[in-house]
Amino acid sequence: MKIIAYGARVDEIPYMKQWAQETGDELTIKEELLEADTVEWAKGYDGINCLQTTPYSAAVFDKMGEYGIHYLTLRNVGTDNVDFAAAAKNGVTLANTPAYSPEAIAEFAVTMTLNLLRRVGEVEHALRHGDYAGSTRLIGRELRSQTVGIIGAGRIGRAAIQMFSGFGAKVITYDPHPSKDDTLACRYADMDELLAASDVVDLHIPGVPANDHIIDARALAQMKPGAVLINTARGNLVDTAAMIAALESGHLAGAGIDTYEHETAALLDMAHTGRFSDPQWDQLQKMPNVLLTPHVAYYTETAVHNMVTFSLTYLTELLTTGTTETIVHPK
Ligand code: NAD
Ligand code: COI
Repeated sequence: MKIIAYGARVDEIPYMKQWAQETGDELTIKEELLEADTVEWAKGYDGINCLQTTPYSAAVFDKMGEYGIHYLTLRNVGTDNVDFAAAAKNGVTLANTPAYSPEAIAEFAVTMTLNLLRRVGEVEHALRHGDYAGSTRLIGRELRSQTVGIIGAGRIGRAAIQMFSGFGAKVITYDPHPSKDDTLACRYADMDELLAASDVVDLHIPGVPANDHIIDARALAQMKPGAVLINTARGNLVDTAAMIAALESGHLAGAGIDTYEHETAALLDMAHTGRFSDPQWDQLQKMPNVLLTPHVAYYTETAVHNMVTFSLTYLTELLTTGTTETIVHPK
């Protein structure tokens, strides 16, 4: 089978080469993303494998249809950046990699929460400004005394529920499609109750349009004074302007943002261009009670290995049988 992989990063390439060696499949590796001006490299290939947070556009799917390429597998979970109508129109079946390591993302949400509850950024900030004694005013909170509200009890949300429970936190969750897993160490609540009762609000839901700004000024006002917000899911879930206002007023005690609302090509490329002009980003970076990370919640050795090998295996299954377990059927 002839496969082309786009968006390959240096950490993925050894796993890709190892997979090709073990399976004997022909794998061409490209670091560039799958875009209207790079899709032509796929001409003559049987299937495409990808990883990117920028859009999979109609122009890409139109070309795939023209080249007779019917299968695309993603090395990641989120599919909010896919033009599914264009994929269907061009007969492209798409599969993602939903369970490469839900624990990786859940652990990162817990890491951010602990950091913010113990006010590590604020303590460091005080110390960096020569205030050794001042940092002792920054008293922390223990997870076992906190209520954690998890929005979205899917794969990652359920892993987070287990982890937070392990720390002794009281965990509640909201999900319109409750899990049948009755071993979950938490209680389901509605959204209003969750927002009002939680010291930590932790998001694990997809960035589909219906969830756009689910955390807006109104939701933030419903949250407890002194609550902490964690977003390792997708940037569009949080109204950043409203969140900054809540941080500035002190209503929100802290925020952990791994997925920033304006995760544009300009932000992704700032290492090359040396600039990214965004006043909200600059404002958040200056706040010692905010953790801003560059979409790395997933980024562990286990996850990267699984993203590559699982997604390439789904692609060869699609190519040989026409189906695989992770085909995405948008609702
Ligand atoms: P999943 O499909 O297993 O679970 C998502 C859950 O959210 C489902 O149970 C669904 O019913 C629920 N849901 C949807 N809309 C909701 C809403 N408005 N309110 C409450 N619940 C809602 O997905 P997952 O594997 O848990 O992943 C969740 C998201 O995490 C992905 O869509 C992706 O955007 C994000 N993610 C981020 C990273 C990262 O590195 N930062 C890595 C992987 C995934
Ligand atoms: C996902 O798997 O959905 C992520 O957010 C990880 C990222 C590398 C795209």
